[in-house]
Amino acid sequence: MDGAAIFEMECTVCHSEGRSGANLQWSYLDAEEIARVIINGRDGTFMRPWEDRLTPEEIKAVAAYVKSLQQG
Ligand code: HEC
Repeated sequence: MDGAAIFEMECTVCHSEGRSGANLQWSYLDAEEIARVIINGRDGTFMRPWEDRLTPEEIKAVAAYVKSLQQG
């Protein structure tokens, strides 16, 4: 599955305009940091770890997609 499709299915529920999750367009994280947040989640927020739900290839693909959303 490609990164955009994974993002559409799993992430837009929180990460789309007007939702409570971070607006990823304005994220300043680099690709490695993005992958780390996806793998481990972020403590104290609704951002859960995805390590057990996505394969390493899927995490890489969706991290690259998130990176491509950045405009800042
Ligand atoms: C249940 C809601 C929810 C879902 C589903 C979700 N996230 Fe998040 N995400 C959050 C929240 C809340 C934060 C933390 C925002 C903060 O730190 O203030 C976050 C943070 C992030 C960050 C860090 C952004 C930054 O610059 O700090 C990334 C990257 C991210 N999410 C990617 C994803 C991806 C990729 C998926 C799908 C696999 C996903 N998220 C699914 C709620 C969600």
